[in-house]
Amino acid sequence: MKFYLFLTLPLTAAFTVPTTKSVVHTSKPSTFALHAESAVNGADKKKVIVLGGDGFCGWPTSLYLSDQGHDVVIVDNLSRRNIDTELGCDSLTPIQSPDVRVQAWKEVSGKEMKFVNLDVYKEYDLLVQLIKDEQPDSIVHFAEQRAAPYSMKTSKTKRYTVDNNVGGSNNLCCAVIDSEVDAHIVHLGTMGVYGYGTSGGEIPEGYIDVILPGGRESNILHPAYPGSVYHATKCLDALLWQFYQKNDNLRITDLHQGIVWGTNTPQTIKDERLINRFDYDGDYGTVLNRFLMQGAMGVPLTVYGTGGQTRAFIHITDTARCIEIAINNPPKAGERVEIFNQVAETRRVRDVAKLVADQTGVEMNLLPNPRQEAAENELDVSNRKFCSLGLDPITLDEALFNEVTEVVQKYKHRCDPTKILPASFWNKKRAEECASLDPNSVKINGAASKEAVKA
Ligand SMILES: NC(=O)c1ccc[n+]([C@@H]2O[C@H](COP(=O)([O-])OP(=O)(O)OC[C@H]3O[C@@H](n4cnc5c(N)ncnc54)[C@H](O)[C@@H]3O)[C@@H](O)[C@H]2O)c1
Repeated sequence: MKFYLFLTLPLTAAFTVPTTKSVVHTSKPSTFALHAESAVNGADKKKVIVLGGDGFCGWPTSLYLSDQGHDVVIVDNLSRRNIDTELGCDSLTPIQSPDVRVQAWKEVSGKEMKFVNLDVYKEYDLLVQLIKDEQPDSIVHFAEQRAAPYSMKTSKTKRYTVDNNVGGSNNLCCAVIDSEVDAHIVHLGTMGVYGYGTSGGEIPEGYIDVILPGGRESNILHPAYPGSVYHATKCLDALLWQFYQKNDNLRITDLHQGIVWGTNTPQTIKDERLINRFDYDGDYGTVLNRFLMQGAMGVPLTVYGTGGQTRAFIHITDTARCIEIAINNPPKAGERVEIFNQVAETRRVRDVAKLVADQTGVEMNLLPNPRQEAAENELDVSNRKFCSLGLDPITLDEALFNEVTEVVQKYKHRCDPTKILPASFWNKKRAEECASLDPNSVKINGAASKEAVKA
């Protein structure tokens, strides 16, 4: 009983952590040109199924893997595009249909990628058959509902997020077992599984040394401390990986990724038809991309609360590179689930906002926080594993800010300013505190909008 209570305490004082000083390994600012790489040779070429390969991370990752010489099959049910329709919103960039994207890539690179429209959660038999047919070496799993705000919008979106994400991950494990294909599963988790608190030291990669009551030393899965229904699904996924690795010897890597920023990669800029999606709305826009878009539009930056939240960041180009590193370094059968922190650096939200404000000349607008979270937090994260495997991470960099700004300028006519303010609230109290937010008060090009909050 004591043991149970011990593990369910919040992170603040529940266990002793090693005292090693935390280092987030970062490099000097980098650009695409500094990250040119050679393609794989024949022996290293892998067959990879990318679940969720039509999405913000999945599409550039698929292109990168194909560019490197891997054989890529994209699977997606296009639910993210349907959610855009449901929310009355759209990617700022004009993304093409999967068929046009795949054809454009063939014309540009000479490489074939297959696209399969399949629902990982609802079409189990087709998933099993696909794995049997394709015999993949690796299956990269991006195919989840990924916005914390959307997951907190209504009971319907909460239930959808849990069903789709946890059901899809469970299906994937069952399908790998049923197909009898020894595929390595690479899943995209989130830094949010750890909670955005501090246990008094660095957050290690997945597992943590603890001293249990009675002085017993152990190394356990880091306690989960989700801050939204979406983050809870990633914690539940993590338990599924533990179970299926132990029970069925599945080879699994879980990548706890930070907030992704940027839009283009060296592959997506090769042709307009390959452009990546760019979400700027209050539900799906990730924080730095929202700020960059707002800066470029002359809209005051929508900083929630005091902006004292510290978060981990990674550029979209590094997302793709990390996936390939994970694919090339699978755990052996019987080894525990491999867990990497897929982050480049940590920054406080108001500091990130200031960087963008200084560069663009727009003001910061402190809004009531729609989220139930600590107003301020520290975040100290290890990313040693990826760095030791060759990642030289791209850090927040004005040259790359400019690249995003140029994309925004080009497509700003597609922006609906009424979608910029937060539209999902964590609970009744937060909704009440945000009741004064007026979506119609936001005007682009600095025309009117210092007063997003009505008097
Ligand atoms: N974007 C980020 O900042 C970020 C940060 C940390 C982790 N992640 C994780 O990375 C993954 C990809 O994120 P993203 O930003 O590319 O999201 P996204 O919504 O752009 O892409 C997810 C893709 O999966 C598809 N999909 C969802 N459910 C599916 C299903 N049941 N069957 C088939 N396809 C399905 C969607 O249509 C979409 O194209 C997610 O799991 C997310 O949790 C993203």
